[in-house]
Amino acid sequence: MKRVLGRSGIEVSALGLGCWAIGGPYAGGANQYGWGHVDDAESIRAIRRALDLGVTFFDTASSYGAGHSETVLGQALGGDRDQVVIATKWGWTFDEATREAGGADSSIAYLRSCLEGSLRRLGTDYVDLYQLHLGDLPVTEALEMIEPLEDLVAAGKIRAYGWSTDDPQRAEAFAAAGTHCTAIQYDMSVLADRPRIVACCEQAEQAGVNRGPLAMGLLSGKYADGRKVAADDVRSQGYEWLTYFHDGAAAPRWQARVEALREVFAAGGRTPTQGALAWLWARSQTTIPIPGFRDTAQVEQNAAALTFGPLSAREFAEVEDLLSDLRTS
Ligand SMILES: NC(=O)c1ccc[n+]([C@@H]2O[C@H](COP(=O)([O-])OP(=O)(O)OC[C@H]3O[C@@H](n4cnc5c(N)ncnc54)[C@H](OP(=O)(O)O)[C@@H]3O)[C@@H](O)[C@H]2O)c1
Repeated sequence: MKRVLGRSGIEVSALGLGCWAIGGPYAGGANQYGWGHVDDAESIRAIRRALDLGVTFFDTASSYGAGHSETVLGQALGGDRDQVVIATKWGWTFDEATREAGGADSSIAYLRSCLEGSLRRLGTDYVDLYQLHLGDLPVTEALEMIEPLEDLVAAGKIRAYGWSTDDPQRAEAFAAAGTHCTAIQYDMSVLADRPRIVACCEQAEQAGVNRGPLAMGLLSGKYADGRKVAADDVRSQGYEWLTYFHDGAAAPRWQARVEALREVFAAGGRTPTQGALAWLWARSQTTIPIPGFRDTAQVEQNAAALTFGPLSAREFAEVEDLLSDLRTS
C-alpha cells in the first residue's frame, strides 16, 4: 500500500515509522520529553525489519533524544538511505552532548544551522521532508520561513517541506504560500478525528502525516490493566496536552471505547493497533500514519496492517457509530 506525499509526487509506503521514542531519554530541567530507556541495537533491528516489510517513510526530529533519534535512524538506514523518504523537523533547541532540551528558536539562522546538524547525524546530504516543529508559531513568522525553505529546495538540501501543526488555519496559509510545501503533520487517531485539517490537506494537495495514531499506545489496549509507564517516560509527566495518560497510566475514561473498538477490529482479523491504522487509511487518501515503536515486534505488528489495508466502508461506519459521541468537532 502506497501514498503520494502531497503535491511533491514523492511516493511512500502508506505506513511510516515515528522515531520519537527511539531517541531515548532527554529532559529540560525536571521535564522529561523522551519515552524512557530504549535499546539502540533493538531500535536498529526494528528499522531494518521495517525496511524488509516495505516501510519507506521515517519521521524523526532534530530534538528527539537531543539528536539521538536521527543518529540511530541514520545508522540503521546506512546504504539504503536513497531507498527511503526521511522526514525530520527543526525549531526546538537542545544540547546534543548533555541531552538537554532547550526552548523554541524560530530564527532563519536556526532553520539553516539545525538542518546541517540533522544532515550530519542522519549521514546524508539531503532531507526529503523538512518540517517546522513549532505548532503554535504565529502565521506571519512561519511565512517568513518560506523563502529560505525554497532556497534550500533549490540548493538540493531538502526536497520538500511542511509544518507540524494541529491548526487548520496555519496549515492552510503555509500550504498556500509555499510551492514545495507538501505535508502537514497533525495529531489524529480513531479517538480524535480532525475534519477541518483533513479537508485542508485534501484541498491543498498536502499529505496528512498522522502523529499519535495509536493515542500514544493507549489504543493497543495493553494499558487496560492499569500498568504504569516509567517515571522518565513523557506519558508520566503532568503536561496538560496529555489526553490519554495521567500520571503514567491510561486515563480510565477511554477504556470502554478501546475495548469496543477491539471487538470491531478483531471481527476483520486485525489487532487493535492494526485496526487503528486501518481507520486512518479509510478516513482519507491523504493520511499517512507514523506510529512510534520500541521494538521489532511492534513494527512487525504495525507493518502487517498494510496487508489488511483500510477498513471497509461497513467497518468504518460501525466505528463512527460506536464513537458518535466523540464526533462533534
Ligand atoms: N509535534 C510533533 O511534531 C510530534 C508530536 C508527537 C509525535 N510526533 C511523531 O509522531 C510519531 C507517533 O506518535 P507517538 O509516538 O507520540 O504516538 P503513537 O504512535 O500513537 O504511539 C506510539 C507508542 O505506542 C506503543 N506501540 C506501538 N506499536 C505498538 C503495538 N503494536 N503494540 C503495543 N504497543 C505499541 C509504543 O509505546 P509503548 O510500548 O511504550 O507503550 C509506541 O512508542 C512520533 O514517534 C513522532 O515521530 C510528532
